[in-house]
Amino acid sequence: MPPTRLPPSQTIHMPTLFSPLQIGPLELPNRIWMAPLTRCRAEAGHVPGPLMAEHYGQRASAGLIVAEATMAMEGNSAFWHEPGIHNQAQIDGWRLTTDAVHRAGGRIVLQIWHGGRACHPLLNGGRQPVAPSAIAICGEDVHTPEGKQPFVVPRQLTDAELPTIVEGFRQAARNAMAAGFDGVEVHGANGYLLDQFLRDGTNRRSGPYGGPLEHRARLLLDVLAAVAAETPLMGLRLSPLNSYNDIADSDPIGLITWLAQRLNDLPLAYLHLMRGDFLGRQHGDVLSPARQQFRGVLVANAGYSAEEADAAIASGAVDAVAFGTAFLANPDLPQRVRLGAPLTPADPATFYTAGAAGYTDYPCLPAI
Ligand code: PHB
Repeated sequence: MPPTRLPPSQTIHMPTLFSPLQIGPLELPNRIWMAPLTRCRAEAGHVPGPLMAEHYGQRASAGLIVAEATMAMEGNSAFWHEPGIHNQAQIDGWRLTTDAVHRAGGRIVLQIWHGGRACHPLLNGGRQPVAPSAIAICGEDVHTPEGKQPFVVPRQLTDAELPTIVEGFRQAARNAMAAGFDGVEVHGANGYLLDQFLRDGTNRRSGPYGGPLEHRARLLLDVLAAVAAETPLMGLRLSPLNSYNDIADSDPIGLITWLAQRLNDLPLAYLHLMRGDFLGRQHGDVLSPARQQFRGVLVANAGYSAEEADAAIASGAVDAVAFGTAFLANPDLPQRVRLGAPLTPADPATFYTAGAAGYTDYPCLPAI
C-alpha cells in the first residue's frame, strides 16, 4: 500500500512563533508575547504617564503585551513607583498607553495584583501589610524611599475581609477595561497575595481559605470568577516552582495538576506559567501537567531562546511564549526573531531606575 497522502487542504502544519493564535475575542498575529515587567516608572500617585505609553507603544509588535503588575487596591504597593488602577487619574494615565499600543497596531492586557506581605509600610503610608498568615518574608529585602529594608510581619487577614479583596480585583478589572485594555491578567504568581494563599508554606490558616488545596485556592478562584464578569479576555499567571519572596509549597506538581484541571470551569482565555524558579532552588516540570489538564491556551515564560520557544510551540507543548528581558531590550523582538538578527543585551542597572535611560532608548533595527 502506498502511503496515504492528505489533500493539500488537510495538510497538517505545525505552528511556529509566527502562527496566529486566537485568545478570547482577539486574534494575535504571532506567539511572541511580552511578559509583565516591573519597571518602576509610574509618576506620583502611581499614575502611568507618557513615558510609559512610549515604552509600551514601541513594543506593539508583540503578539500580546502583558503590562506590568499593577496595584488593584489602594495601599498595597510592593514596588516603589509601581502603577495602580484604582482611581480615575490612573485610568486616564493608562489610557495613554492603551491608545499608543492600539495606534501602533498592538494588543495589551493589564496584569492586576495585590502584593500581600511583600508590601512594605514605607511604600504604603505606614500601613502594615496583610497576608493569609502572619509570617514575614525572610532573607530578601525591599527597596523603599529609605533604602533597602527587611520585610515586616504581616497581619493575618480575617475570613470576613476576603470578599473585599475579591471586590477590589473586580473593580480593578472594570477600571482596566475603562482604560482601554483588551483584557486582564490576574497575578497569581511569584509570592504575592494570591500565591501566598495558594501555597502551604505561606498559608497556615484553617477554615474556608486554608488547609487543603481546595480551600487554599478559594480566594484565587473567587477573584477569577469576579474578574471574568468584567472582561472578555481573562488570563492567569502562576509560578508553582518559584521560591522568590521566600515562598514554597510541599507539592508544587500536585498544586498545578489540580488547579489546571479546576481552571477549565472558568472562562479563562489563557494560563501563563513561569516554568522555573527565579532563584534556581526548585526544579520540576509544571508545563506538562498543565498541558494535560488545562484545555485553554497555555503560555510559557522564563529563559526561553527563540529557538527553544519555536520548538516548544511546534511540538504542541505550549501555544505561545512570553519574553521578558529580551523584549525589554529589543522593542522590535518579533522582527529580529524573524530575520535572525542579533539581540541587544539588557542593562540590569536601569531595570528599576527613573526616566528614559534603559526604558525607551533601546534601538530598533534600521528600517530596510
Ligand atoms: C520584580 O520586579 O522583582 C518582580 C515583579 C513582579 C513579579 C515578579 C518579580 O511578579
